[in-house]
Amino acid sequence: MDSTIRTIATAVREYHSGAESGHGWWHVERVRRTAMAIQQAEGRGNPLVVEAAALVHDIGDYKVKGIGDDTGAVKKILEESGLPEDTISEVLYIHENISFRKSLEGAVARTPELDIVQDADRLDAIGAIGIARAFSYGGSKGSEIYIPGEKPVNIDSGEAYRNSQSSVINHFYEKLLTLKDKMNTSTGAMMAAERHRFMELFLDQFFSECNGESEPDI
Ligand code: ADP
Ligand code: NI
Repeated sequence: MDSTIRTIATAVREYHSGAESGHGWWHVERVRRTAMAIQQAEGRGNPLVVEAAALVHDIGDYKVKGIGDDTGAVKKILEESGLPEDTISEVLYIHENISFRKSLEGAVARTPELDIVQDADRLDAIGAIGIARAFSYGGSKGSEIYIPGEKPVNIDSGEAYRNSQSSVINHFYEKLLTLKDKMNTSTGAMMAAERHRFMELFLDQFFSECNGESEPDI
């Protein structure tokens, strides 16, 4: 492992300690591995930028520690790592533009590395892991598992995403089931299709156990 990457990983692991488990170090490590695998399969993007950006992608996000956004932390970690200035700029660009919230605010210029790391982060939000993370995050903020009769809402702005009071089951309809059609790379899209099917199976089973409750009518 590159020594700058090791330095970044150590600082990131420390930053995420005590985070809600869905946004803990092991989420970051899965995103790092998945991003590296997509980069290899696609044969494009600078691997150093991909790995560094995957590691820092959730630094400062309000969901990690349940407090507001923390904007200075990512710059500090990158500057202390010894990465060259131009690489830091590329990583910061990904950090600024990767989130679901940001994607709701309009299109941004794409780079291969942004496409790859964003796909890796989205893949960790779906499938079996995505299900586990959604209930972990929902639990951490006191969300209901499911409220019969409550319809999913249209999440059409960053503010709506951040302030959502929905049940975790509605979060599937509001966000998680939409991700497979938002993948940037063909490798990511293939991986997403399988994970998507697993979420559908989970939801079918969930509603079959709800004694006649059916899935929300959307
Ligand atoms: P993003 O930039 O897409 O928000 P993150 O890695 O920061 O990416 O975290 C996204 C994950 O946080 C979601 O996929 C889900 O697991 C969880 N999450 C976010 N909002 C909610 C919610 N309202 N209910 C349940 N889980 C949520
Ligand atoms: Ni993330």
